[in-house]
Amino acid sequence: MRTVILGAQWGDEGKGRVVDNLSQDARIVARFNGGGNAGHTIWIGEIKHILHILPSGIVRAGTVNLCGPGVVHDLEVVRRELALSRECGSTVILDRSAPVVLPIHKSIDEARERASGGIGTTKRGIGPCYEDLASRRGVKLGHLTSRKKIRRALTRGGYYAEKAALLRHYGVEAPSLEELIAWCESFAGVIVPHLGDTRAYLARASTESVLFEGAQGILLDLINGSHPFVTSSHCTLGGVSATLGVYEFDRVIGVTKAYITRVGGGPFPTEQENGDGEFLRARGHEFGSTTGRPRRCGWLDLVALRYAVRVGGLTEIMLTKLDVLSGLDEIKVCVGYTLHGEPLGEDETLTRYVLERAEPVYKVFRGWTEDLSECRSWEDLPEAAREYVRFIEEYIGLSVTAIGVGPERSQMIWR
Ligand code: IMP
Repeated sequence: MRTVILGAQWGDEGKGRVVDNLSQDARIVARFNGGGNAGHTIWIGEIKHILHILPSGIVRAGTVNLCGPGVVHDLEVVRRELALSRECGSTVILDRSAPVVLPIHKSIDEARERASGGIGTTKRGIGPCYEDLASRRGVKLGHLTSRKKIRRALTRGGYYAEKAALLRHYGVEAPSLEELIAWCESFAGVIVPHLGDTRAYLARASTESVLFEGAQGILLDLINGSHPFVTSSHCTLGGVSATLGVYEFDRVIGVTKAYITRVGGGPFPTEQENGDGEFLRARGHEFGSTTGRPRRCGWLDLVALRYAVRVGGLTEIMLTKLDVLSGLDEIKVCVGYTLHGEPLGEDETLTRYVLERAEPVYKVFRGWTEDLSECRSWEDLPEAAREYVRFIEEYIGLSVTAIGVGPERSQMIWR
């Protein structure tokens, strides 16, 4: 069984907890995109784990966790998460071809955010690192096996000199070449024992149960999102195939919250900068798990979800945080956009241009007052909540196969 889990919104949908739940039945969990910009929160009893780079399977003993060649590695974070994996009794294989996020990438990211025109990145060096991957330069995890390889990767084609000049342009002093080499080398001891070939591993494990874990969300995809307010990797099903060489899947699950949030800049048609937005932020604890930034909150946007289903390749939906909506008199859902006074066609691409000008059309649902956190079956949910879920299914034409009613492992209704 090959199952893919993708964020169907702008990230922070609760993918980590879904992966954690499904990893009970999977021996292999593979991460394919992003880096330290992600923050996957998992609650096990009273203990909260926030994972940034290694797959969420690392907290389950016996799982094999792969980080593919499209994941950019912040070595300090990886070192921390490797220690957690050891404690939990799981295995980790890091792809030799995966890029290393260097301190200079973070400095460039930060400098660009300070300069005018920043988009509100997580400042984890993601964009600058992927730029180097695309321009075929930079340090790969496999280079950490020797000082000579690190030096060659940093100096080939004037790489280091060019980065140092770019940082000077931003008024920042780069670490010296020798400091950078020493920094890379200092991680060799912890990283090198985990190096491997993740694509070969998956090819050999073709009959096993594998979970592919996406980071960020389809609406933040480099190509299909509202560029330039996007991340620098592919957050769709295509991202799995393009990086891990796997093309056949059994389930492609899109995780969406029962409302929607966004962190950083960019258009957000259903954003509620009012009491409703504050209610969602407070009840849903909507503060970034990587940066601590308050998340922008708004009503569930079914136009955007339908678009995510199409461009992301989704076959089913899991809905998280339905419990957060308890206590609202009315719950709105966006069921259409108008653009320049005309209804927007169903097949339009949701570019920055479209999203910045889209006027949402809402359907209003009656709310419910019941606390959902103890609900464990579909029948336990109040009728108003079931009506809300049924409408989502009808609108997007896919089943909602699980519903989250709280952050803990057991607070999930499976259908
Ligand atoms: P970057 O990925 O750090 O370059 O940031 C680009 C955009 O993606 C910014 O708007 C970030 O807030 C957003 N972003 C990146 N990773 C995540 C995530 O895991 N959750 C939510 N937003 C994210």
